Amino acid sequence: MTRTPVTVTVTGAAGQIGYALLFRIASGQLLGADVPVKLRLLEIPQGLKAAEGTAMELDDCAFPLLQGIDISDDPNVGFDGANVALLVGARPRTKGMERGDLLEANGGIFKPQGKAINDHAADDIKVLVVGNPANTNALIAQAAAPDVPAERFTAMTRLDHNRALSQLSKKTGAPVSEIKKLTIWGNHSATQYPDVFHAEVAGKNAAEVVNDEQWLADTFIPTVAKRGAAIIEARGASSAASAANAAIDHVHTWVNGTDADNWTSAGVVSDGSYGVPEGLISSFPVTAANGKFEIVQGLDVNEFSRTRIDASVKELEEEREAVRGLGLI
Ligand code: NAD
Ligand code: LMR
Repeated sequence: MTRTPVTVTVTGAAGQIGYALLFRIASGQLLGADVPVKLRLLEIPQGLKAAEGTAMELDDCAFPLLQGIDISDDPNVGFDGANVALLVGARPRTKGMERGDLLEANGGIFKPQGKAINDHAADDIKVLVVGNPANTNALIAQAAAPDVPAERFTAMTRLDHNRALSQLSKKTGAPVSEIKKLTIWGNHSATQYPDVFHAEVAGKNAAEVVNDEQWLADTFIPTVAKRGAAIIEARGASSAASAANAAIDHVHTWVNGTDADNWTSAGVVSDGSYGVPEGLISSFPVTAANGKFEIVQGLDVNEFSRTRIDASVKELEEEREAVRGLGLI
């Protein structure tokens, strides 16, 4: 093997998403079947022993691409030389807990991690924030890393995107592979807006194929937007394997690009497109090429969509104000 290994840091490595994620990274599904990886597992002291156990299991898989595993509870060590950072470690929402409650509990984690990324990560660092509230945690980390280009900080809405694909597939009977150009707008929260108006089902406009605005408003949108809560209710724990799968998809797309006839959704720093205030990390339709996400431009936004995008963006602005008030940005 001649390629230089890519260093991938995973925070919260001993958690349930970490357990579903690490084996897939080590097997080559994150970056490609020919890309060797080094793993850095970052945990809090209480999580170190479990992370060591996971590392033993990773060893026992004898993955040909895995060229080393380091474990640390120090962000300055955990992000040293990182090319890709998956910020998963956070406190998951539990039954009855509102996402707003998470801001204070989790905000403090992401500021020092952003600073450690700023000071120690590789120049080409790409950051995906999974830990909730993902968009605002990404904003906190990004604000603490002034030397890293802002667009390297992203938040995960790919799980919402995949959920929307699956629901639309069930409704139309078309396989997910035939559904393109879906968009998740806004926050990874119940206010998110899954938009089918530019989507295609087997080459036809999805809204026209569905032809049922009531289903969109009363079934599709709430099912996708509240799926995280429904899974918590059913499992007694937040989504893990599907979240790990979406993280793999997000980074794989970021690194390897989107198909010419499709786009995906990701929380990226707004450049003011579609009236989303500059600097917010909001979900948009994005393409990827040459290791960069680009917001898809020029889409018509109808009244149905405008109201819903605005509501989610308003929530993001409120979260930004809240973390500003806490001195986190
Ligand atoms: P978990 O509780 O099973 O694991 C979290 C792990 O993070 C624990 O092992 C904990 O020790 C560790 N941790 C806590 N603080 C840390 C820190 N400062 N540094 C390093 N590690 C730290 O939780 P989980 O189920 O793996 O979920 C992780 C996060 O992902 C939660 O915030 C959850 O809400 C979020 N999530 C996001 C999405 C999404 O689509 N964006 C989907 C599902 C879950
Ligand atoms: C999900 O979408 O499954 C999670 O973000 C839910 C949560 O709040 O942890």
